Amino acid sequence: MQRKKFIKDLGISALGLVILADLSACRKEKPPEDVDFTIDLDADAFKALKSDGGFVYKDRIIIARVDSSEYIALSEACTHTGCSVEFDGSEFPCPCHGSRFNAAGEVLSGPARKALQLYNTSLNGNELRVFS
Ligand code: FES
Repeated sequence: MQRKKFIKDLGISALGLVILADLSACRKEKPPEDVDFTIDLDADAFKALKSDGGFVYKDRIIIARVDSSEYIALSEACTHTGCSVEFDGSEFPCPCHGSRFNAAGEVLSGPARKALQLYNTSLNGNELRVFS
């Protein structure tokens, strides 16, 4: 009888750990406010932005390169449950549950229902400014 209870309790504990791990992977958070930073596109940390379709994350913002003259900056956290969105060259898909966002941050397909925050970008030589 005690063995049966032990196995049952063990199962409940394992389920709790799985739920906690899933919740920590997805976080809901407000998009960054009062954003104003500049990145050096020649820096190693941003080398992904040397190629069309490349993207990086900085300060909870995804910065993506459409082409050499067009960069997009959106809040990183998907508005569904907070996974980091990615960039596929034209849209921002979320790898967790399949939401998709356009270049303006608007929802193209759910389950997310709220847009990502769009930030301004300004390119000056190799310096890219991202600001709200
Ligand atoms: S976190 Fe669920 S679709 Fe993005």
